[in-house]
Amino acid sequence: MNILVTGGAGYIGSHTVLSLLNNDFDVIVFDNLSNSSIESIRRVEKLTDKKVTFVKGDIQDKAALAELFCAHNIDAVIHFAALKAVGESSTMPLAYYQNNVNGSLCLLEVMATFKVKHFIFSSSATVYGGDNNVPYIETMPLGEASSPYGASKVMVERMLNDVAKADSDFRAISLRYFNPIGAHESGQIGEAPQGVPNNLLPYIAQVAVGKRKSLQVFGDDYQTLDGTCERDYLHVMDLAEGHVAALKWLNKQRGFTGVEAFNLGTGKALSVLSIIRAFEQVSQQNIRYEIGARRSGDLAAFWANADKANRLLGWQATRSLEQMIEDTWRWQVNNPEGYL
Ligand code: NAD
Ligand code: UFG
Repeated sequence: MNILVTGGAGYIGSHTVLSLLNNDFDVIVFDNLSNSSIESIRRVEKLTDKKVTFVKGDIQDKAALAELFCAHNIDAVIHFAALKAVGESSTMPLAYYQNNVNGSLCLLEVMATFKVKHFIFSSSATVYGGDNNVPYIETMPLGEASSPYGASKVMVERMLNDVAKADSDFRAISLRYFNPIGAHESGQIGEAPQGVPNNLLPYIAQVAVGKRKSLQVFGDDYQTLDGTCERDYLHVMDLAEGHVAALKWLNKQRGFTGVEAFNLGTGKALSVLSIIRAFEQVSQQNIRYEIGARRSGDLAAFWANADKANRLLGWQATRSLEQMIEDTWRWQVNNPEGYL
């Protein structure tokens, strides 16, 4: 089967491409490399000893997409390509709606022209918003997104539902990721943020390796056990395998039409301070940190009820926190400048 992976050179995309190749899918990556490097794909090819067809392009370029669908017999699309910095989305909302919403719209239009009906979407726990209780479960309504980034994910989920209502052959899955961290165990591919990392783990890793002086912990006055925010961290390879499980399920379900959402998380939440301590233990480095103000838009704690993915997809996160941190650390030490 030929799988088109948009954004496949990025962090989660590259790990998923590796899992797809290891499961004998043929992969075509379409990426504009705005937040990634072709080197990730080269390394995936080396690790798997398989070839990836790479096309550089933007999902808003419908002519380029049409050319791609013409040249390859695409069976399904996994759609990662998006801008993903929550804070940045509040300062440049239009860029987020343009890239994430209009980009998805362009992709779905070209898919419709070429009658490609299977779609897997990178959604996020952020679609539950602040009003739902934790743990989040798929039967909850979509919430009031706390950022334009989150709103863009909610909008695409809504768009998929409407497309499915209008076309009974269309089948889609929204995978709602919790907090992916870690790297492939080889230390060859991982998360390579450009500039100052927004997310916790890449920031801690850069402090541990001496690239940054100290971490700001965003608030210690939340209603949690140690006062810092709690999140459901899962290994990026578990997440990658979740995509393979979702794709296999989509291919098998003869009777299913419409859109199905699945949470991908471990079902456990860990605080910022407990992550720092675990990182210190694994890396044997002292992580300097100071307690700063709360970051706007952060929720105190959220984690997944991931029973549905287990029940229907046969998927569950299996890798431990220690493994997540060991793999982050190996990647960071081997590649202090990312893919440069
Ligand atoms: P990433 O930035 O590493 O990967 C995104 C990729 O998409 C990059 O390679 C980028 O170059 C590409 N891209 C962006 N806009 C494009 C466009 N218009 N045309 C073609 N390519 C484009 O991010 P990631 O962490 O791998 O995230 C992948 C997906 O998962 C995103 O949709 C993100 O919103 C979603 N997600 C990520 C997280 C997380 O914590 N990393 C959590 C929930 C959801
Ligand atoms: N944090 C710090 N200091 C930092 C960075 C983060 O204390 O320098 C804290 C945050 O306040 C939060 C926790 O670490 O409590 C995790 O923060 P991240 O930025 O790593 O992750 P978020 O939970 O904010 O968001 C991530 C993705 C979103 C996605 C969400 C749910 O970035 O795209 O998980 O899946 F929507």
